[in-house]
Amino acid sequence: MSDDAKTTPKRSRDSISNTLIVAIGVSFVCSILVASAAILLKPRQLQNEEEYRQRIILDVAGLYDPGADLATLYSSIEETMTELASGELAPVYLVMDGARTEQVILPIEGAGLWSTMYGYLAVENDGNTVRGLRFYSHAETPGLGDQVDKPAWREQWQGKKLYGPDGEPQIEVVKGPAPDESDYQIDGLAGATLTGRGVSVFVRHWIGEDGYGPYLKTLGEEESR
Ligand SMILES: Cc1cc2nc3c(=O)[nH]c(=O)nc-3n(C[C@H](O)[C@H](O)[C@H](O)COP(=O)(O)O)c2cc1C
Repeated sequence: MSDDAKTTPKRSRDSISNTLIVAIGVSFVCSILVASAAILLKPRQLQNEEEYRQRIILDVAGLYDPGADLATLYSSIEETMTELASGELAPVYLVMDGARTEQVILPIEGAGLWSTMYGYLAVENDGNTVRGLRFYSHAETPGLGDQVDKPAWREQWQGKKLYGPDGEPQIEVVKGPAPDESDYQIDGLAGATLTGRGVSVFVRHWIGEDGYGPYLKTLGEEESR
């Protein structure tokens, strides 16, 4: 054995420096893997979000068919913009029947009890009759506020009128059951009156003067000609 080998102290595998080198190396490799996965999956994630949004728009309009090709179904929807009273441009989705607007789908959002709720309201071409309401994002409590997603509750919106004879927004979610004959009232959500109240407030906002009210009024007038 040479003198060198005898005198150079051998670094123990369990030394602090070795442990640090391995830990830093593993962290570095893992961070590269996680970052690469996030970057590579981002386009797929965005595409999934877009497809989900398109499904909801088709569904609220009563046009969604799970067996059909989504892109083909969605090609029947025309996206356009309208100017709100604030001067802001807001999107509107049109379902056309030839040159005639058959219904319009309006994005709506507002405060529930715990969360901002995002959804779509579909309205017939009279600018007054509801075709459907559907939320695609909220964080209301499961079993309470999230009853807004129950098909039985959503179906009640179909056929209701947004405006009373005076042209003012009348639609509302009441506390408890709505009278059968009511054109404007929707059953309250059991144990979740506050979420229902939030929905009433922001739906009325979006169909009012500062929201899509003027657009819906013009649509109704054009279609009744
Ligand atoms: C943990 C917890 C979660 C709740 N989540 C909701 C909710 O998502 N939406 C809602 O309106 N009320 C929710 N509530 C109930 C409200 O505080 C309130 O009691 C209720 O909205 C009143 O409705 P009611 O008059 O139908 O009972 C929750 C209560 C608790 C304790």
